[in-house]
Amino acid sequence: MSLPCSPHFLYRNGVLHAEAVPLPDLATAFGTPLYVYSRAALTAALREFQETLAAHSTQSLVCYSVKVNSNRAILNLFARMGTGFDIVSGGELERVLAAGGDPGKVVFSGVGKTEAEMAQALTAGILCFNVESAAELERLNAVAARLGKTAPVGLRVNPDVDPKTHPYIATGLKTAKFGIPLAMALPLYERAAALPHLAVEGIDCHIGSQLLDTRPFGEALERILQLVDALRERDIPVRHLDLGGGLGIRYRRDETQPDMRQYLQPLIEKLRNRGLKLILEPGRRLVGNAGILLTRVEFLKSGADRKFAIVDAAMNDLLRPALYAAHHEIVEVRPRALDPVFYDVVGPICESSDFLGQERALAIESGDLLAVLSAGAYGMSMSSNYNSRPRAAEIMVDDAQVHCIRRRETIPELYASEQQLP
Ligand code: LLP
Repeated sequence: MSLPCSPHFLYRNGVLHAEAVPLPDLATAFGTPLYVYSRAALTAALREFQETLAAHSTQSLVCYSVKVNSNRAILNLFARMGTGFDIVSGGELERVLAAGGDPGKVVFSGVGKTEAEMAQALTAGILCFNVESAAELERLNAVAARLGKTAPVGLRVNPDVDPKTHPYIATGLKTAKFGIPLAMALPLYERAAALPHLAVEGIDCHIGSQLLDTRPFGEALERILQLVDALRERDIPVRHLDLGGGLGIRYRRDETQPDMRQYLQPLIEKLRNRGLKLILEPGRRLVGNAGILLTRVEFLKSGADRKFAIVDAAMNDLLRPALYAAHHEIVEVRPRALDPVFYDVVGPICESSDFLGQERALAIESGDLLAVLSAGAYGMSMSSNYNSRPRAAEIMVDDAQVHCIRRRETIPELYASEQQLP
């Protein structure tokens, strides 16, 4: 029986497996908490994206969004399959290069690029800077001038479309810090075209994340195409449209994730015969359901009116439930023939928001393993060392093979770069 998240995590003989590997074996070998990814799930998700795009358009590039899960093994796997990358910092650029990514397929977003990051990206020769303000445009021109280079730019415009997602992950509303309001874009493009060390290449936009309704993507594109026409009239032609990421995944059993064709086809239709290359920056959709967080129950505890399953993973390992009240399914690795009991699944951190799930029906005893599903996206990449907890190890399963793609941190590593006063 496979799980709602992915056919690559499935029960065999009453034990949850990642592909052909029983999860208890991984817990014994590597300890818990432990992130476990399925290579087959990662490649299947990317292939579906690439093939749906290729079936409709030859002029396209998938730029995987590095922030979502930036492990080198994952970046390398995607680079080998031909993706480019969407980065938001110099650190992410260095990671991409270390993982064998092609700088010529890198787009750089973010509202606060420093001069050093601009210089680093110009030297590496990236595909495009997605510029988010007038001040950034001037700074980029100055840095490029100093290096004797021309910076390829697109403006990240804010189409003011409601993505109908969690307010913390909506980015395209006029209240957001991101992008340039559509109404202010034309004069800024004129400025960009006039600056000697910038070359206008494209338009960028990202309206939000975890969209389960794909219609807002089409609405945003309609608005952006009006800008494309206005730019052409002013002799500022753009070569590409970068429509960001945002495609949602299934987190809950009763959710269905939007169909890839339903997402891409309307976009491709609207772009037909426009001579524009389409760049997309998927993140969550490629990795979210390809990873789980494996954790062990330390104690079962009865409170005044709630029962708690205290596990060894916590909000420092997976912040999404604490930060966005995000729902992740939690399942028993070896379900017991017991009547399920409702538990709040909590970690050991000293915060009331330290929970992975609330009111979950589980048939468990202390010492049992649980799998927190759909944890591949914004899991490890948002983890921290809060409460001096070493970050989890990460494992990639490939059929029956097991690769440790990041070893567990040690406690001395946590304070190795600190200094006591003389
Ligand atoms: N491109 C840009 C410019 C972005 O800002 C993002 C995500 C992406 C691409 C990737 O979007 P995706 O395909 O993954 O939706 N930490 C939050 C999500 C924050 C999204 C930030 N931007 C979460 O855990 O839900």
